[in-house]
Amino acid sequence: MKNKIEINNISYGYNRRRKVFENFSLQINNEETTILTGKNGSGKTTLTKLIMGIIKPSYGEIKIFGQRTADMSLGSIGKIIGYVFQYPERQLFTSSVMEELTFPLIFKGLDKEETFVKAEEMIKIFDLKKVKDTYPFLLSYGEKRRLAIASVLMNEPKYIILDEPTASLDRERIDTLSEVLYKLKNKKIGMLIITHNKNFIIKHGDRVIKIEGGRAYE
Ligand SMILES: Nc1ncnc2c1ncn2[C@@H]1O[C@H](COP(=O)(O)OP(=O)(O)OP(=O)(O)O)[C@@H](O)[C@H]1O
Ligand SMILES: [Mg+2]
Repeated sequence: MKNKIEINNISYGYNRRRKVFENFSLQINNEETTILTGKNGSGKTTLTKLIMGIIKPSYGEIKIFGQRTADMSLGSIGKIIGYVFQYPERQLFTSSVMEELTFPLIFKGLDKEETFVKAEEMIKIFDLKKVKDTYPFLLSYGEKRRLAIASVLMNEPKYIILDEPTASLDRERIDTLSEVLYKLKNKKIGMLIITHNKNFIIKHGDRVIKIEGGRAYE
């Protein structure tokens, strides 16, 4: 189905003895915001990594908007779904905030001037002006998180997965993030958000799914 992420009967375990998921199925609709909750260690991050093709199910299949992830490269999955990691430093790899935002697009051959204008907008929205020329590794956790989100949005993905996006952000920054997410929703960008933040769940969750004991509950 073209408008769904389909997780069909998958099994996955980091080791043979203990499976995180066994015969697990879930369908996630595009054009709505799905919230994923559940206790620490319940498998939320694992599920998103399976969707992104970073890890592969030992059984079953995952389809992204009609395409089997088993037939797709990491790059082609990443073009469709923007993924903000739970630990943002995992995805920062350049030598300055500005470069982090602009390099991937310029590398792809997009117009330099337009890319810089877009990056300046992101810097403004996510309040990163002070650290524009700083090495991303040296940023505070909140700054890293905002940079990671901004750099994913630079790519204008069709769908976005955010793994605990409010972690280490203060109330004001969470409100800004909420506004950004509302704007994306108005543009019909679907989202899967892992969060424990009750306020955020109430504000954004069209659908709330809890992962527990390898099962999904609504
Ligand atoms: N790389 C790994 N190697 C081995 N076990 C792992 C690995 N990553 C996660 N696990 C285990 O898999 C299970 C699910 O972990 P996962 O990170 O998906 O949980 P989570 O719901 O995202 O937790 P949290 O709320 O703490 O982020 C846990 O038991 C965890 O210990
Ligand atoms: Mg996690």
